[in-house]
Amino acid sequence: MSRLPLSLLPETATVQQDGSLAIGGCDVAELAAEFGTPLFIYDEAHLRARCREAVATFGLGNAVYATKAFLCTAMARLAYDEGMLLDVASGGELFVARRAGVPAGSLVMHGNNKSLDELRMAIVEGVRHIVVDSFDELDRLDALHAEGLPRPNVVARITPGLHVHTHEFIATGQDDSKFGFNLGNGSAMKAIDRMRRSPSMVLRGVHCHIGSNVFEAANFAKAAELMAGFAIPLDLPELVLGGGLGVAYVEGEEASTITQWGNVLLDACAALGVTSTVSVEPGRSIVASAAITVYTVGTMKELPGIRTYISVDGGMSDNPRPVLYGSGYEAFLPREVVAERPMSARLVGKHCESGDVLVLDAALPADVKVGDLLATPVTGAYGHSMASNYNKLTRPPVLFVRDGAARVVVRRETYEDLVQCDVE
Ligand code: LLP
Repeated sequence: MSRLPLSLLPETATVQQDGSLAIGGCDVAELAAEFGTPLFIYDEAHLRARCREAVATFGLGNAVYATKAFLCTAMARLAYDEGMLLDVASGGELFVARRAGVPAGSLVMHGNNKSLDELRMAIVEGVRHIVVDSFDELDRLDALHAEGLPRPNVVARITPGLHVHTHEFIATGQDDSKFGFNLGNGSAMKAIDRMRRSPSMVLRGVHCHIGSNVFEAANFAKAAELMAGFAIPLDLPELVLGGGLGVAYVEGEEASTITQWGNVLLDACAALGVTSTVSVEPGRSIVASAAITVYTVGTMKELPGIRTYISVDGGMSDNPRPVLYGSGYEAFLPREVVAERPMSARLVGKHCESGDVLVLDAALPADVKVGDLLATPVTGAYGHSMASNYNKLTRPPVLFVRDGAARVVVRRETYEDLVQCDVE
Protein backbone atom coordinates (compact mmCIF):
# COMPACT_ATOMS: atom_id res chain seq x y z
CA MET A 1 0.00 0.00 0.00
CA SER A 2 3.03 2.28 0.12
CA ARG A 3 3.15 5.66 -1.52
CA LEU A 4 6.05 6.79 -3.64
CA PRO A 5 8.78 8.22 -1.36
CA LEU A 6 9.07 11.80 -2.63
CA SER A 7 12.76 11.78 -1.71
CA LEU A 8 13.35 9.69 -4.85
CA LEU A 9 12.19 12.54 -7.08
CA PRO A 10 14.45 15.29 -8.45
CA GLU A 11 15.08 18.24 -6.17
CA THR A 12 12.67 20.72 -7.78
CA ALA A 13 9.84 18.18 -8.18
CA THR A 14 6.54 19.46 -6.80
CA VAL A 15 3.12 17.93 -6.38
CA GLN A 16 0.70 20.39 -7.94
CA GLN A 17 -2.73 21.29 -6.57
CA ASP A 18 -4.43 18.54 -8.58
CA GLY A 19 -1.93 15.96 -7.32
CA SER A 20 0.10 15.81 -10.52
CA LEU A 21 3.83 16.19 -10.94
CA ALA A 22 5.88 19.16 -12.04
CA ILE A 23 9.66 19.26 -12.32
CA GLY A 24 11.68 22.42 -12.80
CA GLY A 25 8.39 24.31 -12.90
CA CYS A 26 7.18 22.25 -15.90
CA ASP A 27 4.07 20.07 -15.84
CA VAL A 28 5.19 16.53 -16.64
CA ALA A 29 2.00 15.61 -18.52
CA GLU A 30 2.41 18.68 -20.72
CA LEU A 31 6.02 17.73 -21.44
CA ALA A 32 4.92 14.22 -22.39
CA ALA A 33 2.21 15.65 -24.67
CA GLU A 34 4.71 17.93 -26.38
CA PHE A 35 7.74 15.64 -26.64
CA GLY A 36 6.16 12.19 -26.61
CA THR A 37 7.12 9.14 -24.56
CA PRO A 38 9.38 7.48 -23.56
CA LEU A 39 11.05 10.61 -22.33
CA PHE A 40 13.97 11.34 -20.01
CA ILE A 41 13.34 14.49 -17.96
CA TYR A 42 16.35 15.89 -16.06
CA ASP A 43 16.06 18.56 -13.41
CA GLU A 44 18.83 20.98 -14.34
CA ALA A 45 18.91 22.65 -10.91
CA HIS A 46 19.40 19.20 -9.34
CA LEU A 47 22.30 18.39 -11.68
CA ARG A 48 23.96 21.73 -10.96
CA ALA A 49 23.45 21.36 -7.20
CA ARG A 50 25.16 17.94 -7.17
CA CYS A 51 28.12 19.23 -9.23
CA ARG A 52 28.47 22.20 -6.89
CA GLU A 53 28.28 19.95 -3.87
CA ALA A 54 31.09 17.78 -5.23
CA VAL A 55 33.26 20.80 -6.01
CA ALA A 56 32.56 22.38 -2.61
CA THR A 57 33.40 19.12 -0.83
CA PHE A 58 36.57 18.13 -2.66
CA GLY A 59 37.77 21.50 -3.94
CA LEU A 60 38.02 22.98 -7.42
CA GLY A 61 39.99 20.64 -9.67
CA ASN A 62 39.40 17.62 -7.43
CA ALA A 63 35.87 16.63 -8.44
CA VAL A 64 35.77 14.72 -11.70
CA TYR A 65 32.40 13.83 -13.27
CA ALA A 66 32.38 10.25 -14.63
CA THR A 67 30.67 10.88 -17.96
CA LYS A 68 29.83 7.20 -18.53
CA ALA A 69 26.87 7.72 -16.17
CA PHE A 70 25.24 10.17 -18.60
CA LEU A 71 26.89 12.12 -21.38
CA CYS A 72 25.68 14.47 -24.06
CA THR A 73 26.91 17.87 -25.15
CA ALA A 74 24.73 19.76 -22.68
CA MET A 75 25.75 17.54 -19.76
CA ALA A 76 29.45 17.90 -20.54
CA ARG A 77 29.04 21.70 -20.60
CA LEU A 78 26.98 21.76 -17.43
CA ALA A 79 29.50 19.73 -15.42
CA TYR A 80 32.38 21.82 -16.74
CA ASP A 81 30.53 25.11 -16.08
CA GLU A 82 29.97 24.00 -12.50
CA GLY A 83 33.69 23.51 -11.98
CA MET A 84 34.04 19.77 -12.44
CA LEU A 85 36.68 18.00 -14.47
CA LEU A 86 35.38 15.16 -16.69
CA ASP A 87 36.38 11.49 -16.74
CA VAL A 88 36.17 10.03 -20.24
CA ALA A 89 36.66 6.31 -20.76
CA SER A 90 36.82 5.96 -24.53
CA GLY A 91 37.69 7.91 -27.65
CA GLY A 92 33.97 8.50 -28.10
CA GLU A 93 33.48 10.05 -24.68
CA LEU A 94 36.62 12.14 -25.24
CA PHE A 95 35.23 13.29 -28.59
CA VAL A 96 31.84 14.31 -27.13
CA ALA A 97 33.45 16.24 -24.27
CA ARG A 98 35.85 18.07 -26.60
CA ARG A 99 33.06 18.76 -29.12
CA ALA A 100 31.07 20.28 -26.24
CA GLY A 101 33.94 22.70 -25.73
CA VAL A 102 35.44 21.25 -22.57
CA PRO A 103 39.18 22.01 -22.61
CA ALA A 104 41.33 18.90 -22.83
CA GLY A 105 43.14 20.04 -19.69
CA SER A 106 39.90 19.39 -17.80
CA LEU A 107 39.62 15.78 -18.99
CA VAL A 108 41.07 12.58 -17.59
CA MET A 109 41.32 9.52 -19.78
CA HIS A 110 40.27 6.11 -18.51
CA GLY A 111 39.85 2.59 -19.87
CA ASN A 112 41.24 -0.88 -19.28
CA ASN A 113 41.92 -1.43 -22.97
CA LYS A 114 42.65 1.90 -24.56
CA SER A 115 43.72 1.50 -28.16
CA LEU A 116 46.80 3.10 -29.60
CA ASP A 117 44.50 5.54 -31.40
CA GLU A 118 42.64 6.47 -28.24
CA LEU A 119 45.90 7.06 -26.39
CA ARG A 120 47.23 9.11 -29.29
CA MET A 121 44.05 11.17 -29.28
CA ALA A 122 44.33 11.77 -25.53
CA ILE A 123 47.97 12.87 -25.82
CA VAL A 124 47.51 15.02 -28.92
CA GLU A 125 44.47 16.72 -27.39
CA GLY A 126 46.45 17.20 -24.17
CA VAL A 127 44.27 15.64 -21.47
CA ARG A 128 45.07 16.45 -17.85
CA HIS A 129 46.22 12.90 -17.23
CA ILE A 130 45.79 9.35 -18.44
CA VAL A 131 44.86 6.71 -15.87
CA VAL A 132 47.09 3.81 -16.91
CA ASP A 133 45.58 0.39 -16.44
CA SER A 134 48.04 -2.24 -17.68
CA PHE A 135 51.59 -3.13 -18.71
CA ASP A 136 50.39 -3.37 -22.32
CA GLU A 137 49.21 0.21 -22.10
CA LEU A 138 52.67 1.21 -20.84
CA ASP A 139 54.11 -0.44 -23.97
CA ARG A 140 51.71 1.58 -26.12
CA LEU A 141 52.67 4.81 -24.35
CA ASP A 142 56.34 3.99 -25.04
CA ALA A 143 55.51 3.44 -28.71
CA LEU A 144 53.71 6.78 -28.93
CA HIS A 145 56.63 8.56 -27.31
CA ALA A 146 58.91 6.92 -29.87
CA GLU A 147 56.62 8.41 -32.56
CA GLY A 148 57.56 11.82 -31.18
CA LEU A 149 54.48 12.57 -29.11
CA PRO A 150 54.93 14.59 -25.90
CA ARG A 151 55.09 12.87 -22.50
CA PRO A 152 51.62 12.68 -20.95
CA ASN A 153 50.92 12.97 -17.25
CA VAL A 154 49.83 9.58 -15.98
CA VAL A 155 48.22 8.12 -12.89
CA ALA A 156 48.48 4.39 -12.12
CA ARG A 157 45.25 2.49 -11.53
CA ILE A 158 45.74 0.23 -8.56
CA THR A 159 43.48 -2.70 -7.70
CA PRO A 160 43.63 -2.75 -3.92
CA GLY A 161 42.17 -6.22 -3.32
CA LEU A 162 39.02 -5.01 -1.63
CA HIS A 163 35.65 -6.75 -1.90
CA VAL A 164 32.66 -4.45 -1.64
CA HIS A 165 28.99 -5.23 -1.36
CA THR A 166 27.49 -4.43 -4.75
CA HIS A 167 26.53 -6.35 -7.88
CA GLU A 168 29.38 -8.57 -9.06
CA PHE A 169 29.43 -6.85 -12.48
CA ILE A 170 30.18 -3.45 -11.00
CA ALA A 171 32.65 -4.44 -8.25
CA THR A 172 36.15 -3.52 -9.38
CA GLY A 173 38.45 -3.43 -6.36
CA GLN A 174 38.85 -7.18 -5.77
CA ASP A 175 41.95 -9.13 -6.86
CA ASP A 176 39.98 -11.04 -9.49
CA SER A 177 39.37 -8.06 -11.76
CA LYS A 178 40.26 -7.03 -15.29
CA PHE A 179 41.12 -3.55 -14.03
CA GLY A 180 44.39 -2.05 -12.91
CA PHE A 181 47.65 -3.17 -11.35
CA ASN A 182 47.08 -5.52 -8.43
CA LEU A 183 48.46 -4.46 -5.10
CA GLY A 184 48.52 -7.96 -3.64
CA ASN A 185 50.74 -9.68 -6.22
CA GLY A 186 53.37 -6.96 -6.57
CA SER A 187 52.20 -5.70 -9.97
CA ALA A 188 51.35 -2.28 -8.58
CA MET A 189 54.88 -1.69 -7.32
CA LYS A 190 56.37 -3.09 -10.51
CA ALA A 191 54.27 -0.72 -12.59
CA ILE A 192 55.15 2.28 -10.43
CA ASP A 193 58.89 1.49 -10.75
CA ARG A 194 58.57 1.30 -14.52
CA MET A 195 56.47 4.46 -14.77
CA ARG A 196 58.86 6.42 -12.55
CA ARG A 197 61.84 5.49 -14.68
CA SER A 198 60.04 5.87 -18.00
CA PRO A 199 61.06 8.70 -20.33
CA SER A 200 57.65 8.33 -22.07
CA MET A 201 55.45 9.70 -19.30
CA VAL A 202 55.30 11.72 -16.10
CA LEU A 203 53.90 9.83 -13.12
CA ARG A 204 51.60 12.09 -11.11
CA GLY A 205 49.83 9.75 -8.76
CA VAL A 206 47.82 6.63 -8.04
CA HIS A 207 44.16 5.80 -8.52
CA CYS A 208 41.63 3.25 -7.35
CA HIS A 209 37.93 2.67 -7.95
CA ILE A 210 36.47 -0.05 -5.77
CA GLY A 211 33.11 -0.42 -7.47
CA SER A 212 29.84 1.31 -8.19
CA ASN A 213 26.63 1.79 -6.20
CA VAL A 214 28.46 1.16 -2.95
CA PHE A 215 26.48 2.12 0.16
CA GLU A 216 28.71 1.41 3.13
CA ALA A 217 30.98 4.27 4.08
CA ALA A 218 33.33 1.77 5.71
CA ASN A 219 34.25 0.42 2.25
CA PHE A 220 35.48 3.83 1.17
CA ALA A 221 37.41 4.35 4.40
CA LYS A 222 39.04 0.94 3.88
CA ALA A 223 39.98 1.80 0.28
CA ALA A 224 41.47 5.08 1.47
CA GLU A 225 43.48 3.18 4.08
CA LEU A 226 44.84 0.62 1.61
CA MET A 227 45.67 3.29 -0.94
CA ALA A 228 47.24 5.62 1.63
CA GLY A 229 49.48 2.79 2.81
CA PHE A 230 50.69 2.32 -0.73
CA ALA A 231 50.75 5.97 -1.82
CA ILE A 232 52.35 7.78 1.13
CA PRO A 233 55.85 6.27 0.68
CA LEU A 234 55.66 7.08 -3.06
CA ASP A 235 55.28 10.78 -2.27
CA LEU A 236 53.38 11.61 -5.46
CA PRO A 237 51.21 14.73 -5.81
CA GLU A 238 47.86 13.02 -6.56
CA LEU A 239 45.66 10.35 -5.02
CA VAL A 240 42.43 9.56 -6.90
CA LEU A 241 39.82 7.53 -5.06
CA GLY A 242 37.39 6.88 -7.92
CA GLY A 243 33.62 7.08 -7.80
CA GLY A 244 31.15 4.55 -6.54
CA LEU A 245 28.83 6.30 -4.09
CA GLY A 246 25.47 4.46 -4.08
CA VAL A 247 22.11 6.14 -4.47
CA ALA A 248 18.64 5.21 -3.21
CA TYR A 249 16.54 3.70 -6.00
CA VAL A 250 13.64 2.25 -4.06
CA GLU A 251 11.68 2.74 -0.87
CA GLY A 252 13.71 1.89 2.21
CA GLU A 253 17.14 2.49 0.67
CA GLU A 254 19.25 5.24 2.15
CA ALA A 255 22.45 6.61 0.73
CA SER A 256 25.04 9.07 1.96
CA THR A 257 25.19 12.51 0.41
CA ILE A 258 28.23 13.55 -1.59
CA THR A 259 29.23 15.76 1.35
CA GLN A 260 29.03 12.83 3.80
CA TRP A 261 30.97 10.60 1.40
CA GLY A 262 33.59 13.32 1.03
CA ASN A 263 33.92 13.67 4.77
CA VAL A 264 34.54 9.93 5.14
CA LEU A 265 37.21 9.93 2.44
CA LEU A 266 38.90 13.19 3.35
CA ASP A 267 38.86 12.51 7.09
CA ALA A 268 40.32 9.04 6.52
CA CYS A 269 43.05 10.46 4.28
CA ALA A 270 43.89 13.23 6.75
CA ALA A 271 44.03 10.77 9.66
CA LEU A 272 46.32 8.49 7.66
CA GLY A 273 48.69 11.36 6.89
CA VAL A 274 48.00 11.71 3.16
CA THR A 275 49.46 14.98 1.91
CA SER A 276 48.73 14.48 -1.81
CA THR A 277 45.73 16.16 -3.38
CA VAL A 278 42.73 13.81 -3.03
CA SER A 279 40.28 13.72 -5.92
CA VAL A 280 37.22 11.63 -6.80
CA GLU A 281 35.22 10.62 -9.89
CA PRO A 282 31.51 10.45 -9.02
CA GLY A 283 29.07 9.60 -11.80
CA ARG A 284 25.87 8.05 -10.45
CA SER A 285 25.61 10.33 -7.41
CA ILE A 286 25.69 13.40 -9.66
CA VAL A 287 22.99 12.39 -12.14
CA ALA A 288 20.91 9.39 -10.99
CA SER A 289 18.15 11.04 -9.00
CA ALA A 290 18.12 14.14 -11.22
CA ALA A 291 15.95 12.34 -13.78
CA ILE A 292 12.76 10.37 -14.28
CA THR A 293 11.68 8.39 -17.31
CA VAL A 294 8.11 8.89 -18.48
CA TYR A 295 6.37 6.11 -20.42
CA THR A 296 2.84 5.50 -21.66
CA VAL A 297 0.96 2.38 -20.62
CA GLY A 298 0.03 0.49 -23.77
CA THR A 299 -1.33 -2.91 -22.78
CA MET A 300 -2.40 -4.58 -19.57
CA LYS A 301 -2.69 -8.33 -19.24
CA GLU A 302 -4.35 -9.73 -16.15
CA LEU A 303 -3.64 -13.36 -15.34
CA PRO A 304 -5.88 -14.34 -12.42
CA GLY A 305 -3.92 -16.17 -9.76
CA ILE A 306 -0.63 -15.39 -11.50
CA ARG A 307 0.00 -11.67 -11.98
CA THR A 308 -0.78 -8.59 -14.04
CA TYR A 309 1.59 -7.42 -16.73
CA ILE A 310 1.69 -3.73 -17.58
CA SER A 311 3.54 -2.93 -20.79
CA VAL A 312 4.96 0.50 -21.54
CA ASP A 313 6.37 1.99 -24.73
CA GLY A 314 10.06 1.56 -23.77
CA GLY A 315 11.85 -1.12 -21.80
CA MET A 316 15.27 -2.75 -21.70
CA SER A 317 16.44 -0.49 -24.54
CA ASP A 318 16.15 2.66 -22.41
CA ASN A 319 16.86 1.00 -19.07
CA PRO A 320 18.84 -2.26 -19.20
CA ARG A 321 19.77 -2.10 -15.50
CA PRO A 322 16.98 -4.36 -14.19
CA VAL A 323 17.86 -7.13 -16.64
CA LEU A 324 21.63 -6.66 -16.28
CA TYR A 325 21.95 -6.27 -12.53
CA GLY A 326 18.52 -7.12 -11.15
CA SER A 327 18.22 -3.46 -10.15
CA GLY A 328 15.00 -2.31 -8.53
CA TYR A 329 12.97 0.77 -9.40
CA GLU A 330 9.76 2.37 -8.21
CA ALA A 331 6.90 3.24 -10.53
CA PHE A 332 4.20 5.89 -10.16
CA LEU A 333 1.61 7.81 -12.12
CA PRO A 334 2.57 11.45 -12.73
CA ARG A 335 -1.15 12.36 -12.57
CA GLU A 336 -1.39 11.35 -8.89
CA VAL A 337 2.09 11.28 -7.43
CA VAL A 338 1.21 10.59 -3.82
CA ALA A 339 -1.57 8.07 -4.44
CA GLU A 340 -1.63 4.84 -2.46
CA ARG A 341 -0.24 2.00 -4.57
CA PRO A 342 -2.16 -1.14 -3.56
CA MET A 343 -1.77 -2.93 -6.87
CA SER A 344 1.17 -5.18 -7.66
CA ALA A 345 2.11 -5.65 -11.29
CA ARG A 346 5.08 -6.58 -13.39
CA LEU A 347 6.15 -3.54 -15.34
CA VAL A 348 7.56 -4.62 -18.69
CA GLY A 349 8.66 -3.06 -21.94
CA LYS A 350 7.81 -3.70 -25.57
CA HIS A 351 10.79 -5.85 -26.56
CA CYS A 352 10.47 -9.35 -27.90
CA GLU A 353 11.64 -11.23 -24.84
CA SER A 354 10.43 -12.09 -21.37
CA GLY A 355 13.56 -10.65 -19.79
CA ASP A 356 12.41 -7.20 -20.81
CA VAL A 357 11.41 -6.20 -17.29
CA LEU A 358 11.55 -2.70 -15.82
CA VAL A 359 10.12 -3.50 -12.38
CA LEU A 360 9.52 -7.09 -11.24
CA ASP A 361 6.86 -6.23 -8.67
CA ALA A 362 5.78 -2.66 -9.12
CA ALA A 363 3.44 -1.08 -6.60
CA LEU A 364 0.89 1.04 -8.47
CA PRO A 365 -2.41 2.83 -7.89
CA ALA A 366 -5.37 0.52 -8.47
CA ASP A 367 -6.85 2.78 -11.15
CA VAL A 368 -3.88 2.54 -13.54
CA LYS A 369 -5.19 2.16 -17.07
CA VAL A 370 -4.14 1.99 -20.69
CA GLY A 371 -3.11 5.42 -21.90
CA ASP A 372 -1.81 6.55 -18.50
CA LEU A 373 1.56 8.16 -18.22
CA LEU A 374 3.74 6.05 -15.93
CA ALA A 375 7.13 7.13 -14.60
CA THR A 376 10.16 5.53 -13.00
CA PRO A 377 12.33 7.80 -10.84
CA VAL A 378 16.13 7.74 -10.40
CA THR A 379 16.86 6.90 -14.02
CA GLY A 380 19.45 9.62 -14.64
CA ALA A 381 22.53 7.37 -14.41
CA TYR A 382 23.40 4.49 -16.74
CA GLY A 383 20.00 4.65 -18.41
CA HIS A 384 20.34 6.87 -21.43
CA SER A 385 24.07 6.11 -21.54
CA MET A 386 23.42 2.37 -21.83
CA ALA A 387 20.39 2.70 -24.09
CA SER A 388 20.25 0.65 -27.27
CA ASN A 389 18.23 0.34 -30.44
CA TYR A 390 17.17 -3.24 -29.71
CA ASN A 391 14.17 -4.17 -31.88
CA LYS A 392 15.06 -0.96 -33.72
CA LEU A 393 13.39 1.18 -31.13
CA THR A 394 14.41 4.80 -31.45
CA ARG A 395 16.20 6.11 -28.39
CA PRO A 396 14.17 8.60 -26.33
CA PRO A 397 14.89 12.30 -26.17
CA VAL A 398 16.41 13.98 -23.14
CA LEU A 399 14.96 17.19 -21.72
CA PHE A 400 16.57 19.56 -19.25
CA VAL A 401 13.91 21.47 -17.32
CA ARG A 402 14.53 24.58 -15.29
CA ASP A 403 12.53 27.58 -14.07
CA GLY A 404 9.42 26.65 -16.03
CA ALA A 405 11.21 26.02 -19.32
CA ALA A 406 12.22 22.79 -21.04
CA ARG A 407 15.00 22.39 -23.58
CA VAL A 408 15.69 19.33 -25.67
CA VAL A 409 19.34 18.38 -25.15
CA VAL A 410 19.12 15.09 -27.06
CA ARG A 411 16.39 14.79 -29.67
CA ARG A 412 14.39 11.63 -30.19
CA GLU A 413 15.96 9.35 -32.76
CA THR A 414 14.06 8.93 -36.00
CA TYR A 415 13.56 5.87 -38.17
CA GLU A 416 15.99 7.49 -40.62
CA ASP A 417 18.65 7.49 -37.86
CA LEU A 418 18.22 3.73 -37.67
CA VAL A 419 19.59 3.19 -41.17
CA GLN A 420 22.16 5.96 -41.17
CA CYS A 421 25.11 3.60 -40.89
CA ASP A 422 23.73 0.94 -43.21
CA VAL A 423 25.52 0.57 -46.53
CA GLU A 424 23.36 -0.69 -49.38
N1 LLP B 1 35.66 5.99 -11.98
C1 LLP B 1 35.87 4.82 -12.61
C2 LLP B 1 37.22 4.42 -12.95
C3 LLP B 1 34.77 4.02 -12.96
O1 LLP B 1 34.98 2.86 -13.58
C4 LLP B 1 33.46 4.43 -12.64
C5 LLP B 1 32.29 3.62 -13.00
C6 LLP B 1 33.30 5.66 -11.99
C7 LLP B 1 34.43 6.41 -11.65
C8 LLP B 1 31.93 6.20 -11.64
O2 LLP B 1 31.31 5.41 -10.70
P1 LLP B 1 29.90 5.84 -10.07
O3 LLP B 1 30.14 7.05 -9.22
O4 LLP B 1 28.98 6.14 -11.17
O5 LLP B 1 29.50 4.67 -9.28
N2 LLP B 1 26.51 0.43 -15.52
C9 LLP B 1 26.60 0.19 -14.11
C10 LLP B 1 27.68 1.03 -13.45
C11 LLP B 1 29.05 0.86 -14.05
C12 LLP B 1 30.10 1.69 -13.38
C13 LLP B 1 31.35 1.73 -14.17
N3 LLP B 1 32.39 2.53 -13.64
C14 LLP B 1 25.24 0.44 -13.46
O6 LLP B 1 24.30 0.80 -14.16
O7 LLP B 1 25.09 0.25 -12.27
